[in-house]
Amino acid sequence: MIAAACALHGMAGAAQQPAAPAPAPASSLQVLHWWTSPSERKAANVLAARLAAEGVQWQDAAIPGGAGIGAGKVLKGRVLAGDAPEVTQIIGVSVAEWGEMGLLLELDNAAAADNWNSFLFPTVRNLIEYRKHTLAAPLGIHRVNTLFYNRALFARLKLAPPGTWNEFEAAAQRLLALGVQPLAQSSEPWQVATLFENLVLAESGPAFYRELFVRRSPQAAADPRTARALQRLRTVKGWARGALAERPWTEVVRRFARGEAGMMIMGDWAKAELNEHGMTQGGDYGCAGAPGSSQYHLYSVDTLSMFAGDYSHVQAQEKMARLLLAPSTQADFNVLKGGVPVRRDADPARMDSCARASWTLFGKGAAVQAPSMVHRMAVDEASRDAIIAEVHRYFIDDRAPVAVAQRRLAALFRLFNLTSQGAPGAQNTDRGR
Ligand code: BGC
Repeated sequence: MIAAACALHGMAGAAQQPAAPAPAPASSLQVLHWWTSPSERKAANVLAARLAAEGVQWQDAAIPGGAGIGAGKVLKGRVLAGDAPEVTQIIGVSVAEWGEMGLLLELDNAAAADNWNSFLFPTVRNLIEYRKHTLAAPLGIHRVNTLFYNRALFARLKLAPPGTWNEFEAAAQRLLALGVQPLAQSSEPWQVATLFENLVLAESGPAFYRELFVRRSPQAAADPRTARALQRLRTVKGWARGALAERPWTEVVRRFARGEAGMMIMGDWAKAELNEHGMTQGGDYGCAGAPGSSQYHLYSVDTLSMFAGDYSHVQAQEKMARLLLAPSTQADFNVLKGGVPVRRDADPARMDSCARASWTLFGKGAAVQAPSMVHRMAVDEASRDAIIAEVHRYFIDDRAPVAVAQRRLAALFRLFNLTSQGAPGAQNTDRGR
């Protein structure tokens, strides 16, 4: 939009232009994001209403597509065309990537005014800071390694939620014997890769996970633990029993909600969507850490960044940033969104048992945390897309040998490591080790 166009062109042309009168503070902000499911919309509406109460209008620019696959591309296109929105969902390593280009508004005043450093989880603080500046306002933390199970089916079979992948196999057999598809799963690339990162974490723990997905070590790609995770991916694919198609995540949730599958592995945003389907946590469905990783937290942190543009929106943007971190906004938004507040001082009484477990676990720090590769917490966007494509390629071809997938990943990693020496995002995730 006009704001970014001025900023981009203004830098070069400033000398010839007569000084423009200072623009009046704008009270409308366009927000680009990918919260388009009914539950996501509800959560975003809470933010819009809070903002309206402060005299700032939320102009919605929602781009459909789970995990922001479409939104990331639209954002790039718009910025290149000089049409940046004032506010945008940019998460994880992408914050530093955009920060490096110098287009984001520094939110240092907002952060200092409310002393964000005093209450943010350290991992969240690292994600929003680049070169000592605050470049995003954090909203919530999602747990990507969440297992959802149908309580009625599990009660009927006298099954406990599986704590390991072997127990998962046993539960899957029993569900199948009952004529129920064990696992709701899509073959959409990002959802396949989400299952894979869950399997890597279960197989190895956060230290190795970081070797593979943050440092992108070719040795880690060749490691037997990666081989086992790939092998397991194929076995788990079998439990979707031919019911695999490239469905959006909302459709996967719908199938699980209809009782068409006994289990689902998905980020806890699915919890909010299940509630939209009239399912209750603890009644109709239960949630637990995904098999083999209940002691770890595979996270995705939602953050909103602001484009500086010609600085005419700064007042409204800073107001919004402060509002997003207010304890009541954090609590209300996250109840509807399925995640948990980014504040260490949040009130656990406002969380359901699933959320409380997630928030408490995340609070244990980097040793139990693993940054979701799929959700941009581990690597830059281009690397992420390439890894997802590679894992997907292996997943759809049942004859693709594990060793070949490993070699291809290792080759990719060698390439990344050649090109990304000192890449902007690396420091943000590596600090979490
Ligand atoms: C975001 C969530 C969103 C999910 C599904 C994740 O990347 O962190 O807020 O609900 O994608 O689109």
